Amino acid sequence: MGCRTILLVGALSFSFLASAQKPRPSLRGAACETLKVPLPALNPGRDFDRNAFSRDGLLYLLATWIPDVTNAVGPSDPEMTVPCAPLPPTVQIALINSLLPDGSFDYNRFRNALGAPYLEARSRQHRAYSPPATLAEFKAATGFEQWPVEVVTRSRIKDFTRAVYHSPAGAPYTVSIAVTHDSQSGDLTTAVRETEFLLRREDGSKNWDFYVYDATGKLATQSHFGRNLMPAPSICMNCHYDSADRAFVPLMRR
Ligand code: HEC
Repeated sequence: MGCRTILLVGALSFSFLASAQKPRPSLRGAACETLKVPLPALNPGRDFDRNAFSRDGLLYLLATWIPDVTNAVGPSDPEMTVPCAPLPPTVQIALINSLLPDGSFDYNRFRNALGAPYLEARSRQHRAYSPPATLAEFKAATGFEQWPVEVVTRSRIKDFTRAVYHSPAGAPYTVSIAVTHDSQSGDLTTAVRETEFLLRREDGSKNWDFYVYDATGKLATQSHFGRNLMPAPSICMNCHYDSADRAFVPLMRR
């Protein structure tokens, strides 16, 4: 524990040095009051899609702890003021370390630094259904194996068979599930490599949250793509973004 504290302080003082030439975030120990975070510009033009993606991604991630964050930011605001109190210390530090000396914000650095605290926080915020820690409990609670199944014989992105389930109308929550099997020919009796799902947010936005159970059935912060293990949900957001709706959504279900 003592060791961890030292590391966190180290990270903070580093960012102090790095941002010496601009107004410093107000910090006392590991706590801050507010942080000014620059937002990617939304002027129409070559970079619009990329900027909209990282702007929406930042708001999507922060909404986990600051539920009304999206309403607090106008469509062309160049920056936002983030209150620190709702953010756990690790997230405050991720935010501070992503504020670069040149005044820009490194969205990728921020989203990749979130990890486990993010997983916990956004699971807790689902009032209608909070994803359990294990696949066994998830199966018992949803009974999804009885729902109609759509088979993707050999998924392009997983390179294996995927069984896809959508929650029926009238279910207390809206969920899309993809079970990756150890088969490349559509055999659903083979072992499960991974179970991924998207759970619709209940905040009136069009956003969904991403989750992964690994091969042992535990809630995980990484997912397999080909031979690579990638951080979730940040990797999920790359593909599951609807630029028309400006939201993070399933691909097979609208
Ligand atoms: C490289 C692009 C890509 C990434 C990254 C990605 N997906 Fe997908 N996802 C797809 C595609 C394409 C499909 C359609 C089925 C297929 O071809 O496998 C899909 C389908 C799904 C489905 C089935 C329901 C639906 O319509 O979306 C779920 C659930 C899902 N993905 C979850 C995730 C999760 C969780 C992550 C992150 C761990 C993730 N995906 C990352 C491309 C991606």
